[in-house]
Amino acid sequence: MNFHVLTLFPDMIMQGLNTSILGRSMEAGRITLEAVNIRDYTINKHKKVDDYPYGGGAGMLMQAQPVYDAYLAVEDSIPKKSSGKTRVIYLTPQGKTFDQGMAKEFAKEEDLIFLCGHYEGIDERVLEEIVTDFVSIGDYVLTGGELPAMVMIDAIARMVPGVLGNQDSGENESFSNNLLEYPQYSRPEVWQGKKVPEVLLSGDHKKIEEWRLEQSLERTRQLRPELYEKWAGENQEYFVRKEKREERRRKKLLKQLKKQTAVNPNGGVGEGSASEEDT
Ligand code: ADE
Repeated sequence: MNFHVLTLFPDMIMQGLNTSILGRSMEAGRITLEAVNIRDYTINKHKKVDDYPYGGGAGMLMQAQPVYDAYLAVEDSIPKKSSGKTRVIYLTPQGKTFDQGMAKEFAKEEDLIFLCGHYEGIDERVLEEIVTDFVSIGDYVLTGGELPAMVMIDAIARMVPGVLGNQDSGENESFSNNLLEYPQYSRPEVWQGKKVPEVLLSGDHKKIEEWRLEQSLERTRQLRPELYEKWAGENQEYFVRKEKREERRRKKLLKQLKKQTAVNPNGGVGEGSASEEDT
């Protein structure tokens, strides 16, 4: 997948994204990144790219011409596809809020162009002409679109097959199924008196999976109730299955208790009582 960023600060983009997993993916050729300096395309002899807004008001605006010419240079360099024009994402607090679903959706594209604004914004006419998606990364205002573009590129790139070493990890994490991630533990088994939950040491993969989902659900219910409600609405069968499972366990326990009482009518549940996992 190829990321193209139209920006006044190309170094910020290149330096911000060339380390760790993304850096390695670029070296391996799984993703490419180019940052195009909009200033290189201005026809102004002083290399100016901004001017005062018509009608007055605070600050300066990025002008249409250098943005449009930088865009044309990038679009012309992209091999033509049957699906037509490349999607152009303009980073703006007025856009649709970015989320994991959008990251997955954008990751299906072969090329993406990001347009980073500065100052008070960009001349509306060029936005109308080239932008296909207006995207915000949250309800706050940053000084430019570079950080939001980097956030988006990071989230999108890791959805590209092969970018994450372990193919599973993109799917199992927070938000991939609209739930927050379950807690994870590594060595040592006991740290500062805190023990790793017993079930994770059991080797019983079915039980571990069950426990992790329950942890995810409980975390989501507490921290993001709106996500929990959505999941619960879409996964009613989970609760039916859970109820059946619990009913089976209750019956098994009852059977064991009856058996014990038959063997030892005067005593309580002594040795050989139902183990905790059967409850
Ligand atoms: N540009 C400035 N603030 C922004 C935000 N919150 N999201 C996207 N682009 C922006």
